[in-house]
Amino acid sequence: MATLKTRYSILLHQQARRRWCQPNALRACSRSLQTSTSDHHPSDFAFAFDIDGVLLRSHDPIPGAREALSFLQAQKIPFILLTNGGGKHESERVAELMDKLQIPLDTSMFVQSHTPFADLEQYKDKTILVVGGEEDKCRHVANAYGFKSVVTPADIMVQYPSIWPFSSQFLDYYQETADPLPSPIDAANPEGSLKVDAIFVYNDPRDWGLDATIILDLLLSRSGIMGTVSPKNNNPDLPNRGYLQEGQPHLYYSNPDLWWAAKFHLPRLGQGAFREALEGLWTAVTGGEKKGVTLQKTLIGKPYHMTYDFAERKLIKHREDLFSGTETNPLRQVYMIGDNPESDIRGGNSFRSPLGTKWSTILVKTGVHQTGHPAWEPTTITKDVYEAVKWALHRESWPVSPQRN
Ligand code: G3P
Ligand code: MG
Repeated sequence: MATLKTRYSILLHQQARRRWCQPNALRACSRSLQTSTSDHHPSDFAFAFDIDGVLLRSHDPIPGAREALSFLQAQKIPFILLTNGGGKHESERVAELMDKLQIPLDTSMFVQSHTPFADLEQYKDKTILVVGGEEDKCRHVANAYGFKSVVTPADIMVQYPSIWPFSSQFLDYYQETADPLPSPIDAANPEGSLKVDAIFVYNDPRDWGLDATIILDLLLSRSGIMGTVSPKNNNPDLPNRGYLQEGQPHLYYSNPDLWWAAKFHLPRLGQGAFREALEGLWTAVTGGEKKGVTLQKTLIGKPYHMTYDFAERKLIKHREDLFSGTETNPLRQVYMIGDNPESDIRGGNSFRSPLGTKWSTILVKTGVHQTGHPAWEPTTITKDVYEAVKWALHRESWPVSPQRN
């Protein structure tokens, strides 16, 4: 049963769609569709747009973004939005984006960093720790994905403030959204104590100290039982020096970005920076690679294959819906438009589509990458997303090109 918050975000999405499905907007759109579609065969190319630094800087639309997207919609050229951002349910984020960009969008054309976590059925009846994001929004996202028992660091902090004494000043804030724990933390009775089966970093952590402490406690625990320590840790006779040898919870990160383009004129630290800090602590505690200790983890998000594969399947499904009833060639080419060489360009360049679709990359200068030679070579570089779309349409010999307002 979707939680109140999730029902609210779905409502938001419906309202935004209704706003966008005003008769005159649709008429305008369909009129241009009518004229356009009759002229051209359905395109066998499509686009994947990054969000931060390409379409938006924090809440502000980047000039040309709306024109570029609405032109593609009028020409019935498919596209998806593929972001390493997240922290809200897809329906809530799509509603916000529709408001900001003033175009109709849908969750069928939208992939956030944590969206693929929804497929991890093996944890849906287990207890998971969800870290990051505003308040407890990520808990509601995980619930909406079907994860039944979701704990946050705030839940633990509110019931056991001594677990991280340096966040006591935030207790009022945590109390607002904390949920009771499914079990107490009781080191004297480990069988009855809170046990976490997996750790998910859904979005950028806000309280690095609290979040890192709780994750480390779990990685050093016996079988994920909070308040315990594995006696195998630091035993040189055991594999991995005894660390992570007693059913400790697996660690999942959704976004590797060290930097991202927010409102400030310089890039800001992202979820990847938290990972570096946490793993620095892990190395300080365990000795790390030098001592033969590794930290098993799963990284998703751009540039990783799993995320591009997930995105391509979403794009193909969206394209089928868009062209339903029309005979189409298979998807031949995708243009990945991004501002971050490390995630958007590296990911698009190295993705080998199992379906043989060719992915090309366009780097724009409105976000993380501003000057200099990018670490990963894009197919081309343009000043912004509008010029990127124009460049690709020209390359595809598409008969019409967008006009800036
Ligand atoms: O937190 C989001 C950030 O890391 C980048 O988002 O949209 O540029 O992939 P995006
Ligand atoms: Mg970006």
